[in-house]
Amino acid sequence: MKNSVSTFMDAKGKNEKLTMLTAYDYSMAKIIDNAGVNGILVGDSLGMVCLGYKDTLSVTMEDMLHHIKAVTRGSKDALVVGDMPFMSYQTSVYDAVKNAGRIIQEGCAGAVKLEGGATVYEEVKAIVKAQIPVMGHIGLTPQSVNMFGGFKVQGKDENKAKQIIDDAKKLEDAGVFSIVLEGIPWKLAKIITESVTVPTIGIGAGKFCDGQILVYQDMLGLFTDFTPKFVKTYGNAGEVMNTAFKDYIDEVKNGVFPSEEHSFKIDDEIIGKLY
Ligand code: KIV
Repeated sequence: MKNSVSTFMDAKGKNEKLTMLTAYDYSMAKIIDNAGVNGILVGDSLGMVCLGYKDTLSVTMEDMLHHIKAVTRGSKDALVVGDMPFMSYQTSVYDAVKNAGRIIQEGCAGAVKLEGGATVYEEVKAIVKAQIPVMGHIGLTPQSVNMFGGFKVQGKDENKAKQIIDDAKKLEDAGVFSIVLEGIPWKLAKIITESVTVPTIGIGAGKFCDGQILVYQDMLGLFTDFTPKFVKTYGNAGEVMNTAFKDYIDEVKNGVFPSEEHSFKIDDEIIGKLY
């Protein structure tokens, strides 16, 4: 079944949990889409898990578009959400609309995501006015890593918690169709989820969110630089791959691969004429 922003909005009313995973290329998008998730986020986590940067700040619009295009080519039923990278919407409302438009027009995504609450109110409103669905993202917003002094859980004191609740309400008012809650205490996420009519998608925000998202490299044990507390490893693809790569190396070195089964034939008569 094709997922859309309506699927997301309706799920909250029906008390149905939403599922999302990230993807960054065609083959993974196909596998993840086939598994039946509601949404695929082409996140700017791309910078860390695919490009090897220490944070997401170096990711550009061109990087994002390159990967969003690949993912939309591989997805059939999932709603593809394209992340807006650092400095693609903070500079002006005009830039925000223009770059969101590129993600839809060139990337063929179904929606965009950007970080921030009250501070991006005007940008979100303008993008929605341009008929582009927006997913909000508050709490531990990685593009603010330098302001936070590291990737730290947010909303643990009263003022910060109230600010995050206010951010969620502002985003709802600006017209988002859902909100990612990242790295906040689960009891705060529960209050936010109960305070807004749009679905919340949690990552490190506990089980009371309307849905969940994980970075696929994290949940498959493929990204080993560090593992956040909220990550559950559902399979060790890193180990499976390592074994396969080692088997391949052994077989090539020992002349086992390629065998006849993996080779092409030609008539011996023709071969005779080649000597
Ligand atoms: O970039 C990303 O992958 C994200 C998710 C972690 C929500 O923003």
